[in-house]
Amino acid sequence: DLAEKGGYPDFMMKEIHEQPRVVRDTLAGRLTGGTLTIDELDLSHEELNLIDRVYVIACGTSYHAGLVAKQLIEGWARIPTEVEVASEFRYRNPIITPTTLVVAVSQSGETADTLAAIRDARVRGAKVFGITNVVGSPVARESDGVIYTKANKEIAVASTKSFLGQVVSLTLLSMLLAQTKGKLTTSQIKLLFKELADTAEQIETILSDTTAIDEAALACKDACSSLFIGRGLGSAICAEGALKLKEISYLHAESYPAGEMKHGPIALIDEGFPVVAVATQSPTYEKTISNLQESRARGAMVVAIATEGDTEIKKHAEHVIYIPKVRDCFSPITASVPLQLFARAIAVARGCDVDQPRNLAKSVTVE
Ligand code: G6P
Repeated sequence: DLAEKGGYPDFMMKEIHEQPRVVRDTLAGRLTGGTLTIDELDLSHEELNLIDRVYVIACGTSYHAGLVAKQLIEGWARIPTEVEVASEFRYRNPIITPTTLVVAVSQSGETADTLAAIRDARVRGAKVFGITNVVGSPVARESDGVIYTKANKEIAVASTKSFLGQVVSLTLLSMLLAQTKGKLTTSQIKLLFKELADTAEQIETILSDTTAIDEAALACKDACSSLFIGRGLGSAICAEGALKLKEISYLHAESYPAGEMKHGPIALIDEGFPVVAVATQSPTYEKTISNLQESRARGAMVVAIATEGDTEIKKHAEHVIYIPKVRDCFSPITASVPLQLFARAIAVARGCDVDQPRNLAKSVTVE
């Protein structure tokens, strides 16, 4: 058993530690002479160039990878993008034309709602790309093109390395769309790709010392509820951080865009209430800091994920977890890792089975 887990105490920990490799494998062979290529997409330059609307469809953790993709596709390629849970998308009447791209994100490639959604989208004439971890899975077979996330088999029910593979793949797809539309130049692509590849090493740095994460987890382990707040991409990462925590530790966690705090969730805060914030360097950093001040004024115990070198943040948080400095667009890749470790440490401290949480299944092939 220990051998299977590669010497780690559980599969989740083993899989968290595989993430630098996932980044490297997902990127291998994608850039030649400043040009990104994803041959498996099987669409001509002209067809790609015509795309004027994107829907990212997924469930669970994969949906959160979609939230990241929306911001990158709109930011770089300037194509209007919506992210929707598959069980909603399939039962409404979305606007689909032949120039609509539907991106189905599914680790297993067999989630019933996601499959039903793409079948319907294809009948309506959309182009469908699958992003999946399982070669030859139904999502792979039934899409016009597929990107494999190269996470290899994921055993822990709560997804970690496949989420990271999804985010890296969607980042590549967003860059490819921008390249096709002429919104990013060759030199911009080269620079971004290099920085994207550098995240593998940055994750290794995060994994090499988890003291601050473990301390913060111990301080939060007896809470009944918690809030995860962030802005922009930080908000998307918080959604995944909160899901991870509730899935494996059964500690209630809710994520909110930080700016929405005052419209409801701030009422929850009393003495010692954990507020986990993604407060890395970004255009909205200062705004997030003021949300931390508001939270602390009401007694919150703030755990902040922050950028290395940011000493200011110590004034606004009980616990600071530093991560290496990256361009904001790549923060989902690095900032997700401490949140996975945080959730796992709390689950372990609460005596939970982190690999097999109650009531959850690795893949949901029935409605
Ligand atoms: C289940 C799993 C989650 C996963 C979700 C979507 O709920 O427990 O970890 O995110 O299904 O699965 P998929 O295979 O489509 O990504």
